[in-house]
Amino acid sequence: MENSYDLSSEAAAGKAFSDQSLTVLGIETSCDETAASVVRLSPDGSAEVLSSIIHSQIEDHQAYGGVVPEIAARSHVEMIEGVAARTMTEAGLGYGELDGVGATAGPGLVGGVMVGLGFGKAVALARGLPFVAVNHLEGHAVSARLGARVDYPFLLLLVSGGHCQLLEVRGIGDMSRLGTTIDDAAGEAFDKIAKAMGLGYPGGPALERLAAAACDGSRFELPRALLGRKDCDFSFSGLKTAASRIAQTLTSDQDRADLADAVQTAIARQLSERSDRAMADYAERHQARTLVVAGGVAANGSVRRVLEETAARRGFGFIAPPMAYCTDNAAMIALAGAERLRLGLVSDIDAPARPRWPLDEARAIADPVHRTGRKGAKA
Ligand code: KG4
Ligand code: ZN
Repeated sequence: MENSYDLSSEAAAGKAFSDQSLTVLGIETSCDETAASVVRLSPDGSAEVLSSIIHSQIEDHQAYGGVVPEIAARSHVEMIEGVAARTMTEAGLGYGELDGVGATAGPGLVGGVMVGLGFGKAVALARGLPFVAVNHLEGHAVSARLGARVDYPFLLLLVSGGHCQLLEVRGIGDMSRLGTTIDDAAGEAFDKIAKAMGLGYPGGPALERLAAAACDGSRFELPRALLGRKDCDFSFSGLKTAASRIAQTLTSDQDRADLADAVQTAIARQLSERSDRAMADYAERHQARTLVVAGGVAANGSVRRVLEETAARRGFGFIAPPMAYCTDNAAMIALAGAERLRLGLVSDIDAPARPRWPLDEARAIADPVHRTGRKGAKA
């Protein structure tokens, strides 16, 4: 069949888009948020969010204690058109005024990914716009650039419901993994322990709220993972088992608040210890020293505080995205799409949905022993 979509030439796109502002629609449907956003990327690299709409499906899944893929996909189908229309209205633009469309193509729940990917491609085709298939993790990786000037390269701690990784980010599409989880992701640990404590879904924010009422979290001794190892890998399953066991023995609200505090402290400490090792390693290769944290767990105040202190001790600047862009959103997808468009990295219109899509593919293939940590409620 003849392909009338002729905007996928990378050279042509790169030439056309190198020196102008780019206004891009982003679409995100990889888990339980139906989101759309319009972001304008200036030639100097600064980004302005013109609109960002997020429809959360939390209520649809709460009764099940986690995300149900089929319910998620159906809800995306029902919501995506309206969410996208609202974001265009708020941005004060028509689809024809866009320079491109970016949609999450993975990793994530494939049913949901296909809804947003199909919708994004349809807009691009109908309006003759270039289309970018965006890696959801690359979206998290650039999310801090939505709120501040963050130059490449930087060291990234990506902590979400499905992922826990340390990455050297040299630029869009140019990242290497320094460490990852060997079992659960950090957000997954928050969610599962919160569930064992009867806190409901999503567990991270609920556990943080409960921890605020703690008197003395240090009375609970929780295991410290991979202590003898010198690498930058993470492990949370021992903590999850120990905390869940303790949770069954507690009787008072104060006990539960103290356990929540102990869990939050243990997770924050592990994230900071591994980031500290990664900073030492990274500093051997780079002059510019910035630690960026991204992903849903970056919304946790305790985690931010401990990371900021650790970064300061190493002489690193510390940057976290604005709260609204820590958890899943489409502004980060629009920005990743715009940055790719600027580089001429346009996708083919038949770009597939990829339920698994590591950022550092070479490392993931060479090191299959490491699981990707995508078993959590958000995965
Ligand atoms: O980035 P995100 O929205 O989705 C994924 O791509 O996974 O991250 C969601 C995860 C959930 O595990 C949630 O419990 C966790 O981020 N999270 C938090 C907080 N807010 C969200 N964890 C700890 N403290 C929070 N305040
Ligand atoms: Zn995410």
